[in-house]
Amino acid sequence: MSRDQLVRPAYSPRAVADLARPQHLLIGDRWTEGASSRTIAVENPAREERVAEIAGASAHDLDMAVHAARHALETSWGRLHGRERARIMLRFADLLDRDADLIGEIMSIDNGTPLASSTPVVRLLGAELFRYYAGWATKISGEAFTPAIGSRTHLDFMVSTLREPIGVVGAIVPWNAPAGMIALKLAPALAVGCTVVLKTAELAPLTGRFFAELLLEAGAPPGTFNLLHGFGDEVGAAMATHPGIDKITFTGSTAVGRSIAQGAAASNLKRVTLELGGKSPVVIFPDADLSEAIPAAAMACFFVSGQACMAGTRLFVHREVHDEVVAGVAAFAKTMTLGDGLAPDTVLGPVISARQKARILEYIRIGVEEDGATVALGGEDTPSPGHFVRPTIFTDARADMRIAQEEIFGPVLTVIPFTDEAALVRDVNSTVYGLSGSVWTRDIQRGLRMARKIDSGQVAINYHAAMSPETPFGGNRQSGWGREFGKEGLEPYLKTKAISVNLGPRT
Ligand code: NAI
Ligand code: MG
Repeated sequence: MSRDQLVRPAYSPRAVADLARPQHLLIGDRWTEGASSRTIAVENPAREERVAEIAGASAHDLDMAVHAARHALETSWGRLHGRERARIMLRFADLLDRDADLIGEIMSIDNGTPLASSTPVVRLLGAELFRYYAGWATKISGEAFTPAIGSRTHLDFMVSTLREPIGVVGAIVPWNAPAGMIALKLAPALAVGCTVVLKTAELAPLTGRFFAELLLEAGAPPGTFNLLHGFGDEVGAAMATHPGIDKITFTGSTAVGRSIAQGAAASNLKRVTLELGGKSPVVIFPDADLSEAIPAAAMACFFVSGQACMAGTRLFVHREVHDEVVAGVAAFAKTMTLGDGLAPDTVLGPVISARQKARILEYIRIGVEEDGATVALGGEDTPSPGHFVRPTIFTDARADMRIAQEEIFGPVLTVIPFTDEAALVRDVNSTVYGLSGSVWTRDIQRGLRMARKIDSGQVAINYHAAMSPETPFGGNRQSGWGREFGKEGLEPYLKTKAISVNLGPRT
């Protein structure tokens, strides 16, 4: 299929109209063209077609955005009662649902994700997450207590703690699920009363404007949310060191996460939450329900063409069922229709860029050359134009190979056979990452035992990557700092103040 045989539906009239509108920055109540000398060329990766051009933000634009966010923190959004914040967030969630089809289509054009996943991202990771966190806006409270041990024991004290918004939040998001990532940064921050300066990903910036417009439409005061576009090494790096930003929340590569942490430490010691890379395991025992485990293992790795932080890219299979599982995963992968994100049958879209495709192909070459592993699937020609990569499966791999250690961020599955549980645990935990993972077995004791031994932020039993608004998500080791989602996802946006009151002599 080297010549173009793909179905490539026309963009909808609404999307065409939206793409023709300018992609400006929102600073306070002002829509303004970015003043950087660098321009972002926005490409549909399924068609290698330019769909927009955006001027990035300058250092001055960033200063103005931080200033607007500080002003809103001190005078409007940060002063609203939680119930007012909740009302605005709920209205915003309804607006996201109203426009979900358009936002989903624009996200597909922006980063190639099939419509069948992009619109649900807007509804479930966007609108539903906002509703969940709107509920928390009225439930942020400290506590009051009598300290048992004081320095002046003849006096009585009462201590009360206040939970306050940490301040101006800088959010830096990646391109793989931009509408979901923006919502995930915004919702908990806004719920507790923080204001936000957000930088979109230069590889998929187009969904950012919807958040800016719809928040204003929902009644958020200007400055609550400020939208910047720009390059990571320019605007992103400047955010990490900006003295007016109190906290950075970031999702992206481990290398950039490290540089943000360094920038934060070297400047104003701003707080940092990092959601970084992964090399998550899927572990299949012989007693697993293979009719469930096999398609799930294929989806865990190949979903969104492997461009998900929690992708299950290492498949540990017990030798007893190894051949059956590998054959089943390969057969399932072949049924995953590769295509344009807007075509109704598409299950697998393109990868994000020519650079990302080259990086993935380089890893496939490394896998072929590294001693031992064999290719069970992959290597065929791909349609063009578009940055397509077909699902690729390596078998007979060892846990210490590069294709089993390094995050590829593409549809490449590394299958590692096992027999012994102790060796399995050691191999599973042998990467620098610890984000996600799943265990497939009908033996609940074994499932729970493995779940406890896998060093990662989340483990699913007979499921992979169980995401929900309530469930904390984040990485151990070099997969990141902190947790998002759930009640825990509020913590990074809060600071605690203890107020001690001297009640006078004990009676
Ligand atoms: P990246 O980490 O460079 O980009 C993510 C975001 O960080 C973008 O908004 C970018 O503008 C920003 N950024 C880049 N350099 C920065 C800097 N010095 N300071 C502050 N912000 C900066 O990721 P990229 O290049 O798009 O992808 C490379 C690899 O990163 C992927 O192959 C994958 O392994 C990993 N990745 C992981 C993601 C996840 O969900 N955990 C998401 C995206 C990428
Ligand atoms: Mg793009």
